[in-house]
Amino acid sequence: MRKMIIDTDTASDDAVAIVMALQTPDIEVIGITVVAGNMPVKQASINARYSAQMCGKTPPVYDGIDTPFIRDPHRAYFFHGSDGMGEMKYPDPVQQPEAEHAVPALIRLIRANPGVELVTLGPLTNVAAALLQAPDIVPLVSRCVMMGGAACTVGNITPAAEFNIWCDPEAARIVFRSGLPVEMVGWELCRGEANLSDADMRYMKEQINTPLAHFSIDCNASAIRANRTWLGDPALPLPDPVAMAIAIDPTICTQSSLHYVDVECEGIFTRGMTVVDQLDVTHNPDDLAGSMWAVHRAKGKPWVRVCWAIDIPRWKSLLYKTVA
Ligand code: BDR
Ligand code: CA
Repeated sequence: MRKMIIDTDTASDDAVAIVMALQTPDIEVIGITVVAGNMPVKQASINARYSAQMCGKTPPVYDGIDTPFIRDPHRAYFFHGSDGMGEMKYPDPVQQPEAEHAVPALIRLIRANPGVELVTLGPLTNVAAALLQAPDIVPLVSRCVMMGGAACTVGNITPAAEFNIWCDPEAARIVFRSGLPVEMVGWELCRGEANLSDADMRYMKEQINTPLAHFSIDCNASAIRANRTWLGDPALPLPDPVAMAIAIDPTICTQSSLHYVDVECEGIFTRGMTVVDQLDVTHNPDDLAGSMWAVHRAKGKPWVRVCWAIDIPRWKSLLYKTVA
């Protein structure tokens, strides 16, 4: 069994990603750590546990940090609805969160499970806090698949930034600089044709027609509306499930390359921008002194794998298979 930890600010697309992981037979989700982002931790935790309950599973859920390191919290009620689940007002889940806080839980779980796969679906506050307290966990994580960033600078919260990174850019910077083997799955990969179209959603509800298929579409009711009006995209964007699809089956990412990546924390217009050194232009030692790239170069070769393209039919097939 592959072991996986999911760090999430559970709202409607995180919910579908959790379902996908829990419905994959060779993956054991050894912990879900909850971070603030789309929702405060309390609501995100309820949403995570309800999503697991829909799968008939009870992975341990650990509540984590409720506010970014230094920024004011920013919730995505406008996008995911006041409950984060499309105003579906689902009943409270039976399962309670664990007593242990998410940050010590992350450290303990990673140390106890070398080779574990980490999938991050929210702001990186919990993960960064764990890395600051326990840098020894870096080589114990075999993959860190991250829904975050916008490699092509197509932002969804500002023109320059994607929501998860923008919420807590200082935390994201710590994670990118840590040496964790990040696979960056940017916002742009769920757009356009990768959206679930009206026909795709009809297929899920009418042909697959399982409780999980209905749940996955229904809880995204607000996201579908907001995506059309706010972002001008055709239907349902599922960034976290796209990242989870790549976590489950890395071949769904059809084009990727290794780069130095850092996060803009000081810019006026570019807070949270993921700056990808796509052409490897930061190689001149004279330009490096004191720059963020010096931090990266000191660690040797680039280690952040940027995903540039996905196989859209196969991403959708994997989603259909897991909800069926
Ligand atoms: C990310 O922000 C959240 O709204 C989604 O859950 C996803 O993790 C997309 O920018
Ligand atoms: Ca999320």
